[in-house]
Amino acid sequence: MENLEKIEQLRSIKNVMESGGDPRKVEAQHAKGKFTARERIEQLVDEGSFIEFDSFMTCRATEFNMESKRFYGDGVVTGTALIEGRQVWISSQDFTVLGGSLGEQHAERIARVQQKAIETKSPFIQINDSGGARIQEGVYSLDGYGKIFRNNILASGVIPQFSLIMGPCAGGAAYSPALTDFIYMVDSISQMYITGPDVIKAVTGESVTHQELGGAKAHGKKSGNIHFTHENEQSAFAHLRKLISYLPLNNMEIPPLADPADPPESTQIIEKIMGEKSTKAYDVHLVIQELFDKDSFLEVQKDFAQNIVVGFARLAGRTVGIVANQPRFLSGTLDIDSSDKGARFIRFCDAFNIPVTTFVDVPGYMPGTKQEFGGIIRHGAKMLYAIGEATVPKIAVVLRKAFGGAYIAMASRSLGYDRVLALPTSEIAVMGAEGAANIIFRKDIAQSSDPNQTRLEKIEELKRKSTNPYISASSGMVDTILDPTEIRSSLIRSVESLSNKVENRPEKKHGNMPL
Ligand code: HXC
Repeated sequence: MENLEKIEQLRSIKNVMESGGDPRKVEAQHAKGKFTARERIEQLVDEGSFIEFDSFMTCRATEFNMESKRFYGDGVVTGTALIEGRQVWISSQDFTVLGGSLGEQHAERIARVQQKAIETKSPFIQINDSGGARIQEGVYSLDGYGKIFRNNILASGVIPQFSLIMGPCAGGAAYSPALTDFIYMVDSISQMYITGPDVIKAVTGESVTHQELGGAKAHGKKSGNIHFTHENEQSAFAHLRKLISYLPLNNMEIPPLADPADPPESTQIIEKIMGEKSTKAYDVHLVIQELFDKDSFLEVQKDFAQNIVVGFARLAGRTVGIVANQPRFLSGTLDIDSSDKGARFIRFCDAFNIPVTTFVDVPGYMPGTKQEFGGIIRHGAKMLYAIGEATVPKIAVVLRKAFGGAYIAMASRSLGYDRVLALPTSEIAVMGAEGAANIIFRKDIAQSSDPNQTRLEKIEELKRKSTNPYISASSGMVDTILDPTEIRSSLIRSVESLSNKVENRPEKKHGNMPL
């Protein structure tokens, strides 16, 4: 072959490589409202920044007629790119090639970019659209998953990892996303489950559709397996770019400073809310909006365990993690799901040097047999563990109620909060004065000639002597009591002053978090 022919040959190979599978399969992909693996990468990253790795690799299997099914890249596109000028590593499964199924070489390509992401300490993003383990390759496929899982685990806490589910993600394939930090799903085109509707029907007799079982709504609201739900792929890509802008590239960096910081509008909503009766529900989003840089709140898992609100926001340009009780749902109690949600978020923040701010209005852990039998002790302990373990700056703002074990999780100096700021409307105690009066003054109330009056007097006495924040402040459990107008400036100064905090811990392999 002449040299010029060799160059032509390479060009034609590259054309084939870049066209993915059969054109009819590409059409079918588009008809479902899905982009191809390469189109997805193009939309996600800075224009022209993607460099593909290992694009000539092909399947090596020979059984089941696989020799006739050789595709360059083996059904996945992998490489590195920039997002707002910062490096990331990507794999994007190509459903038009063998249904994006994962065989030996397909897995090897993904594992290699994961390894490079770890070595270069930059985030890993996987776009999943796959029929799962490639059946023809048997144990080689399973071995490939094992490599990917192991890399997910090695990367955990070192670099942020993101999964975008944009098609089927069934069986063991769902476990790689589950081992990453944030999972996106696009509504109606994606399904994620361990066993599908047919198996469920055969084993348990239940009838359920693919979407009901494993769609974005099921995981966003019920299972809590995912973090973000989007209507279409473009919206998910734009959101991931935004999320990455809040985060450091790895655990050795601090998050980037946003410039310029845009302060929130002054609405005096906190003062209005706190002026109401302490039993009145309100939306804690309004509190967050008034305190953090304008429109900077990026909520995580917004539809799951809505009794706690978690997410990232900026405070004078710095990234902070927010964990806030939400009185609008279940009175803001900590239950099994909200404890899991809060603890996982806190651990992410701690791993990636993001200060944590809590907003506290919590009557306690959730009572009930469902909670007790479901393991609220074990799950609730996760919140305690996550906060106690975290060495990043931890600042609590007590808005109203901070009762019992939930006070310890959300706002206690003893568990390691660096600053505890309280509004004058705070009540900090083992339980609310009303409940407490019924227990410790039961006899006085029963024997009184006017039980109602005695009860009210005892409640007042408890508030005066025990629950009000000046008592907590006088003992040093609360740093200071703030006017609502001072919270933002106090938070900014607290985060700034604690930014160089170093907290040493006894050496150990790892703790044994209650799971
Ligand atoms: C090999 C596969 C495949 C697989 C799909 N294909 N899944 N090839 N191994 N796992 C191929 C199909 O044969 C077909 O090839 C092409 O991909 C497109 O598939 P279709 O079925 O035509 O597409 P669609 O109708 O959209 O259905 C998509 C699907 C379905 C729902 C994903 O293909 C399906 O149910 N696949 C099997 C899913 C599954 O059970 N996977 C194993 C999960 S267990 P042709 O050549 O005809 O176009 C698992 C274990 C991992 O993954 C364990 C890790 C620890």
